[in-house]
Amino acid sequence: MSPDSEPSSVSVPSEHAVLVRISAAFESVVEEMKTRLGAVETKKFPGAFRLWKVPSLEAFRDSPVAPFIRWALPIQHSWPCNPAKMDGFIEKAAQTMVRKFGSTSPQALFVGALNPSSPDPYYKLLASNLRGRLKQVFEPFPINDVEEQDPNRKTLFCMVGREGLFCGLATPTWCNGLYPGGTKFVPHDAEDMVSRAGAKIAEALHHLRLFRSPPKEQSRWLELGAAPGGMTKELLRRHYRVTAVDTGKMDPRVVGLPGLIVVKKNVAEFTPMPDWNYEAVLCDLNGSPFDAIAHVVRVSKALVRKGLVIFTLKLPKVESLDEVISIMSSVEADAERAGLHLISRTHLPSNRNEMTLFFEKKVER
Ligand SMILES: C[S@@+](CC[C@H](N)C(=O)[O-])C[C@H]1O[C@@H](n2cnc3c(N)ncnc32)[C@H](O)[C@@H]1O
Repeated sequence: MSPDSEPSSVSVPSEHAVLVRISAAFESVVEEMKTRLGAVETKKFPGAFRLWKVPSLEAFRDSPVAPFIRWALPIQHSWPCNPAKMDGFIEKAAQTMVRKFGSTSPQALFVGALNPSSPDPYYKLLASNLRGRLKQVFEPFPINDVEEQDPNRKTLFCMVGREGLFCGLATPTWCNGLYPGGTKFVPHDAEDMVSRAGAKIAEALHHLRLFRSPPKEQSRWLELGAAPGGMTKELLRRHYRVTAVDTGKMDPRVVGLPGLIVVKKNVAEFTPMPDWNYEAVLCDLNGSPFDAIAHVVRVSKALVRKGLVIFTLKLPKVESLDEVISIMSSVEADAERAGLHLISRTHLPSNRNEMTLFFEKKVER
């Protein structure tokens, strides 16, 4: 029977098949990732997705390689086919899915396109139409909005593209993102965006929802390496108060905005005012990551209990996983010694040669 004629499963053991999305920044170390994980690649899709067979899903998630995978989905059902060339793809897919997953009670069901950056709108429309039909054939889902999901309850995620349909039931935390395909991508080309970094903080705050709620409006942020102010503008737009430290000049579109204090000096010379506390520290300093974390550790004395740190870890050109893992572990150890507990590390859609690390100040006993 041709794989195009009937919904079927791939030949790899389904419990160990995993769909992974790897950013272009880590393309050079994909082979090393596979070796470390004992993964076999069974398919590479145009764009960033690949289908891997891994020996253990638990070991896959706990591996030091995991932060370099932007999003992952354990595959429990796949239908390799070309949906555009098939009569009744949506109906056949929907009937099979309800037979397979109808009794699994997912909190929600979302369908994404396997190649989201393709200029061809066909698969995005197909994803939306498939979701529409699935919502009719399944019992109503408790959650219908991506942002409302409980990060730790299972969702049925489906990815569709020219290569077929790939579905799995997993928590957004396991997958590393609420959306099918990962953390929300925030475009950088908005006219009023001061710098690309504005998109990074918007994505970081979205990613944070997997682990905890963001600081409340009016919270105080201390920003190290703030100029020209892309991130500052995003924070102010969210009604936060910001102390922005940089030797460089802030963009005139940011200077004077309500809630902003600009400190034009080297961070090494900056000391938070006594009795002045911050709910969050944001660090996007360029240069040595070890110097940057040392600055964060020093100012973290002014961070409230359970205060948040969002830290951009600037990496050298990624040529070896070992080198990157070693830098990251060393930075995390410096933070941990200072009572800053790692809550997540990820490569956001707008990160280049960098990772974003999230810490929380430990509650002292
Ligand atoms: C990647 S840029 C920051 C972009 C910024 N976050 C934004 O949203 O537009 C890095 C910044 O770190 C600043 N920087 C690096 N070392 C510094 C230091 N020791 N003291 C103050 N600023 C520093 C640079 O001047 C530069 O503006």
